[in-house]
Amino acid sequence: MTQDELKQKVAQAALAYIKDISIIGVGTGSTTNHFINMLADFKNDIEGAVSSSEGTSERLKKVGIRVLDLNEAGTLEVYIDGADEINPRKQLVKGGGGALTREKIIAQASKKFICIADDSKSVDVLGKFPLPVEVIPMARSFVAREMVKLGGQPVWRESCITDNHNHIIDVHNLSILDPIELEKTINNIPGVVTVGLFAIRPADVVLIGKGDQVVTL
Ligand code: 5RP
Repeated sequence: MTQDELKQKVAQAALAYIKDISIIGVGTGSTTNHFINMLADFKNDIEGAVSSSEGTSERLKKVGIRVLDLNEAGTLEVYIDGADEINPRKQLVKGGGGALTREKIIAQASKKFICIADDSKSVDVLGKFPLPVEVIPMARSFVAREMVKLGGQPVWRESCITDNHNHIIDVHNLSILDPIELEKTINNIPGVVTVGLFAIRPADVVLIGKGDQVVTL
């Protein structure tokens, strides 16, 4: 199976988790896009979705799903999203698509976080994928210097302005042995909006496409 076929397979498997749920949270990225396409068949069963990015909102509307404001939706039963890296404790690196802040808000506001990914995202130790950090633009260089102190090599993602009008720094060469501690440390730096570590609130279920199977963690 190709990587894209594996993404489709896990997206299909995620449909089992939205049965009888009227409002769902929906993430961002190519794996989640497959899931959104499949939602077209459920548009009459779902009241709507809370979206993690402008891109996802557009796609949801295209397949006939109403986009709802999290403020009105309240606590969500389930959130479906992809990841850039996943460790065996279901802790994640996210933000390759730049949507990490809204993704983290929705993950935290949901009772169940179902992560869908192909096997290339499975790692023992997080950090090979550069860690995205969304920052207030005026704090970019300051936060970059703080990342150097933590042992990383920060690179400004120059082509990217987030949906929240902020910048992203990708931090290379971190070996993240204690994801919860690093998440807290980076969260505490003034100017940081969100770090793409999802360890304090990890996924509850991870569906990994491997070979021609879907493995559930
Ligand atoms: C976007 C994300 C995505 O979930 C992550 O980048 C994975 O994307 P893809 O499904 O395209 O591999 O965190 O901010």
